[in-house]
Amino acid sequence: MKPRTRTGRPAKIYPTAVVLPGARLGSDVMIGAFTFVDAGAIIGRGTRIQGHTGIWNGVVLGEDVFVGPAATFTNVHVPRARWSHAPNWDATRVGDGATIGARALLVAPVTIGEGAFVGAGAVVTRNVPAYAIVVGVPAKVVGWTCACGQTRLYALRRPKALACATCGEPAVRGSRGRRSPSPSRSSPRARK
Ligand SMILES: CC(C)(COP(=O)(O)OP(=O)(O)OC[C@H]1O[C@@H](n2cnc3c(N)ncnc32)[C@H](O)[C@@H]1OP(=O)(O)O)[C@@H](O)C(=O)NCCC(=O)NCCS
Ligand SMILES: [Zn+2]
Repeated sequence: MKPRTRTGRPAKIYPTAVVLPGARLGSDVMIGAFTFVDAGAIIGRGTRIQGHTGIWNGVVLGEDVFVGPAATFTNVHVPRARWSHAPNWDATRVGDGATIGARALLVAPVTIGEGAFVGAGAVVTRNVPAYAIVVGVPAKVVGWTCACGQTRLYALRRPKALACATCGEPAVRGSRGRRSPSPSRSSPRARK
């Protein structure tokens, strides 16, 4: 494994993807087939989004985020067709270097920490700490990972230090001093 090189080129958008004017896409972004990107979406440099997903208004993806195929984002916690929530979307923020597994579902408002890993098919209803691995329905922290994802440690408690043989980074960078063995509750939701 080696780090992907950044070319600085504009986003690559595959045929059948729809990107509305106004969406902010960094360089080296990839948008897969049958993906919809809303006018207010923000997608950081180097982020890769596979096919069959929607990046709605209120969704902010950091740099080098991986979004697996058919992952589902939301932007209204309690939707009703006859009432409009615009422009008060429930936000989803995904930190730099995080991975969202295939068919994972993120129930807004929610924040995925830097470098966190959301397993395939997880339903995320609470904030995910940096470098945590979460799986299941509802998603729970089951372990911790490093920047490259190759070192994965399955333990509820965040290890103090653990060097990764592949990337050399500590398996759990960032958020030092914070202890959150399970996903934390989102900030109080604005009731609409
Ligand atoms: C989370 C993930 C990285 C774990 O992989 P891993 O570190 O190799 O771990 P394992 O496969 O050994 O699984 C460890 C345990 O977690 C469980 N598990 C793994 N992934 C899971 C998931 N997505 N949901 C629920 N449980 C999961 C396994 O069943 C296993 O449980 P067990 O010990 O009781 O048997 C991986 O399973 C995953 O979800 N990857 C995402 C793949 C994806 O979406 N790719 C998209 C691009 S193609
Ligand atoms: Zn690593």
